[in-house]
Amino acid sequence: MKVVKSVKEMHLISGQLRLDGKKIGFVPTMGYLHEGHLSLVRKSKENSDITVVSIFVNPTQFAPTEDLDKYPRDFERDEMLLNQENVDFLFYPDKDEIYPEGFSTFVEVGEITKVLEGESRPNHFKGVTTIVSILFNIVKPHYSVFGQKDAQQASVIRKMTSDLHFDIEIEIAPIVREKDGLAMSSRNVYLNQKEREDALVLSKSLYLAEDLIKKGERDFNVIKEKMIGVISQAETAYLDYIQAVESDSFSKVNLFEKGKSYFVLIACRIGRTRLIDNLLIQIN
Ligand code: PAJ
Repeated sequence: MKVVKSVKEMHLISGQLRLDGKKIGFVPTMGYLHEGHLSLVRKSKENSDITVVSIFVNPTQFAPTEDLDKYPRDFERDEMLLNQENVDFLFYPDKDEIYPEGFSTFVEVGEITKVLEGESRPNHFKGVTTIVSILFNIVKPHYSVFGQKDAQQASVIRKMTSDLHFDIEIEIAPIVREKDGLAMSSRNVYLNQKEREDALVLSKSLYLAEDLIKKGERDFNVIKEKMIGVISQAETAYLDYIQAVESDSFSKVNLFEKGKSYFVLIACRIGRTRLIDNLLIQIN
């Protein structure tokens, strides 16, 4: 695996790969990699000739009050893990090269960014779509994989790719979980032992929702009350939102209808760590 730091060199490499007729797969990340990230890498390797992974902790998607400075980083470990996966290129640019002084252009997606994560984290998606556009322009992929773990982000990227006519196929890969159900996240490292136990209420409440739906419950308000009951069992949990949305539009719903698919989404602070999780359901 070749580590590429300079934007100019990455431009040259991806330009040449395209000339050579190679299909470029791309996995953007902020590093501190876990099995969730690696599942995306494996998907890209299956579906393309050359896989590029980027590691860039993107400052424009963090609010001043958020964890940009303490976001976990371990480049050497990440490099080793990606080497083991036989990744072809690791793009690892410096902040100042991506955002030089005077940088002032942003990419903003409408409606779908205004709810849920967009409501709790204003400007977050604007930072995400801006960096992903920049990375798409530098890496020039044919194909890029995102995780369902960040379901709204994946939908926002899909919408941006379609609206801006990026000629890139976007794939969404399923959530990878720890054995006990906790969705893998770089931020899980912030949790102390008690919080790690309490964090299970996110997945537990989603499993409860899945069970109720399987048993025929179609009223989300009934399901939500029961989910809140699970969350309230954890001392360190502070709920931000529980919401059901249509899986394509992300518009909020209260009643599940036959033949449609939905996300049930949850955001919850465990101590000082904000975690998100979700469940994709198909109503038959
Ligand atoms: P990051 O949080 O590092 O995640 C990188 C990719 O890994 C995202 O597509 C995310 O959805 C996926 N991912 C994270 N945890 C996962 C899990 N448990 N199972 C499956 N996939 C998982 O998301 C970002 O970085 C940034 O916003 C980024 C898109 C790189 C833009 O800066």
